[in-house]
Amino acid sequence: MTTPIIRARHVAIIMDGNGRWAKKRHLPRVVGHQRGVEAVRKLVRSLKDSDLECLTLYAFSSENWRRPEDEVDDLMDLMRKFIRSDLEEFVENGVRLRIVGDYQALAPDIVDLLENALDRTSQGTRTVAVALNYGGQQEIARAARLAAEAGPVTAEAIESHLFTADLPPLDLLIRTSGEVRLSNFLLWQAAYAEMLFLDVLWPDFTPAHLADALDQFAVRERRYGGR
Ligand code: FPP
Repeated sequence: MTTPIIRARHVAIIMDGNGRWAKKRHLPRVVGHQRGVEAVRKLVRSLKDSDLECLTLYAFSSENWRRPEDEVDDLMDLMRKFIRSDLEEFVENGVRLRIVGDYQALAPDIVDLLENALDRTSQGTRTVAVALNYGGQQEIARAARLAAEAGPVTAEAIESHLFTADLPPLDLLIRTSGEVRLSNFLLWQAAYAEMLFLDVLWPDFTPAHLADALDQFAVRERRYGGR
């Protein structure tokens, strides 16, 4: 019997290993993050040749505030620069930006940049969702609170209040750098997602790695608890 080929609609990535990439080269951590942004840029560009509908990237977790202030500032600066330099390319390539997480708590100038980018890209046909100030447990608690305000707290009601409510169901979750844990990312959405843990540091991740991951996904058998 041949295994049916299934196309992934929504892939999420925990982009891990920027620090180790830099350390291996005796470079400052910020260089690892800069190269990480380069990897993001190439991946987003490659989407126009793929039939993936949605890519969700874990850029800054609710817990990342605990990093040294310099590093948090570097990450925020990279975010500013990335939006400024790549926004028009997003628009031209039909990429719709989405933010998952409590981005309103970021610096006011970043909130403005993000809201302008959300607005400018709203007509895009494929989605890049960036998780910013995001925590999965916090997202579930928020969704449960909103569900309770509106009626019975069922799984469906909670789901309808997640940041990802209007995105396709998560098919595949990838983590780079060899670590095997979820780190508070898309906890609810990962319930039936396939997982792929790669021994590649994020700055070395290329569109070919994503294409390989999609090929592997295509032949995995998913049962959703059934037989
Ligand atoms: C993990 O590497 C990576 C992060 C905490 C940040 C991810 C951010 C980027 C790739 C750049 C910003 C993204 C955009 C969309 C502009 P780590 O520092 O934890 O690496 P380590 O575990 O090797 O120390």
